[in-house]
Formats: sequence, structure tokens, C-alpha cells
Amino acid sequence: MATLGVNIDHIANVRQARKTVEPDPVQFAFLAELGGADSITVHLREDRRHIQDRDVFLLRETIKTKLNLEMAATEEMLEIAKKISPNYVTLVPEKREEVTTEGGLDVRSNVKYLKKFVGNLKDSNIEVSAFIDPLSEQINFSKEIGFNFIELHTGKYAELTCYDQQKELQRIIESTHEANDLGLAVNAGHGLNYNNVKKIASINNMNELNIGHSIVARALAVGLEKSVREMKSLITSNSISK
Ligand code: PXP
Repeated sequence: MATLGVNIDHIANVRQARKTVEPDPVQFAFLAELGGADSITVHLREDRRHIQDRDVFLLRETIKTKLNLEMAATEEMLEIAKKISPNYVTLVPEKREEVTTEGGLDVRSNVKYLKKFVGNLKDSNIEVSAFIDPLSEQINFSKEIGFNFIELHTGKYAELTCYDQQKELQRIIESTHEANDLGLAVNAGHGLNYNNVKKIASINNMNELNIGHSIVARALAVGLEKSVREMKSLITSNSISK
């Protein structure tokens, strides 16, 4: 059955809008866990626009589930990850001008660098995932580099409608099977919401879905514990594997 990773960056976005101490994403992680989150995801960006170093250190000490640290593959982040020792790291591309992570990581163009980087994290007992577009060559290179997981970018699927969305869904299904055949566990995320999550949750052997924006947006109406519980129930009732 697919599990739910709740991304709490947006809680920190609200705090940083005023550069104050509330709302505190560390406290909200507790509510996400009460609602059924299987892991807590945070993206520590180079520009520290939302999540701060202090958040990640405190989350490591306080959460009862798993910590998924999203980060760029830089030397600074490598040192932080080694100090924090999250359950796993998801490597993402990062551009200063983007509003959110726009595309998948181009693992193909960085094989040598990423092999060393991923090896370094794995030597510290941290599992590593690559956030990639659902493309065969990116999957094959992820395997060659030594990633434990991939996270398939569902942003395009979320944006498209009708026939085009169905085509993109098919691409994600085939990519999941392709990666599984290579021994890679498959996560997915970006743009998933209460309407479009079901078809992704029902993909055979989907490991984890990472969802932030829609859960935090719904939390404004019903509270975070409930918005997480609703999403978790949609995922579990549509999952057909494991
Ligand atoms: N997965 C990755 C790698 C991401 O960068 C993000 C956005 O921070 C998400 C999942 C969650 O996307 P959303 O906020 O659209 O649910």
C-alpha cells in the first residue's frame, strides 16, 4: 500500500512571510503524524526561503515517523545531511528564481558527480532518492548512479486534463514498472491533490506519495490533522499493492 509523506514547507512559508516564530512547522509535523502521515518531508533550500536549519534539526529529534530531507546536491547540503541523518534524502534540482521545484533532476548529465555524492550519503546510512521526470533514460541512470529510490515528478500529470492527462498517467505507470524491474522503489509527488491522487495511488507497487500544497491549503479550512487524515484515507482506499 502506498504511504503518505507530508511536505510541511508551506507552514514555514507563512512563518517566513513575517520572519517570526509562528506557525512553527515542527509543531505542525506532530499534527500531520496524528492525522496519519507516514513521513515528514522538508526541503531545505539554499536560499532558506521557508524551512530553516533549526527546523530540520528539531524535526529529527521530535518526529516519530520518518524524515525525508529534500535538498540540492551541493557540498553544503551534504554536510548538513550527514549531521542530521534523515531517514532518506531526496535530491532535487534547485533554481533561485523558481516558485517551486519545476522539473526533475537531470541525473543523466551528472553521473560522475552524483555517483560520488550518493555514495557519500549511503556510507552514512542514509537512503537516497532522485526526483526525476518519468523518462526511461533518467530511470536507467538513477539505477547506475546507485539511488535506492526514485520519486517520479507528477507535476505534468497534475496540470494536464482529459486525454493528455491519461497519456501522462500511462507514462508514470510504465516508468514505475520499469524502475521496479530494475530494483528501484518508486515514490511520486508534485501537484497531487484530493481529486487527482486516486489514479496515482492505485499504481501497482507505488511506495510513497509526497504531498504538500493541497494538504496545507485544505488545512486552512479543516485543520492539518483532518486534512492529512482525508488524504491518507484516499490513498489507502485506492492502493492495490503491498
Ligand atoms: N516532491 C518534491 C520533490 C517536491 O519538491 C515537492 C514540492 O516541494 C513535492 C513533492 C510536493 O509538491 P506539492 O506541494 O505540489 O504537493
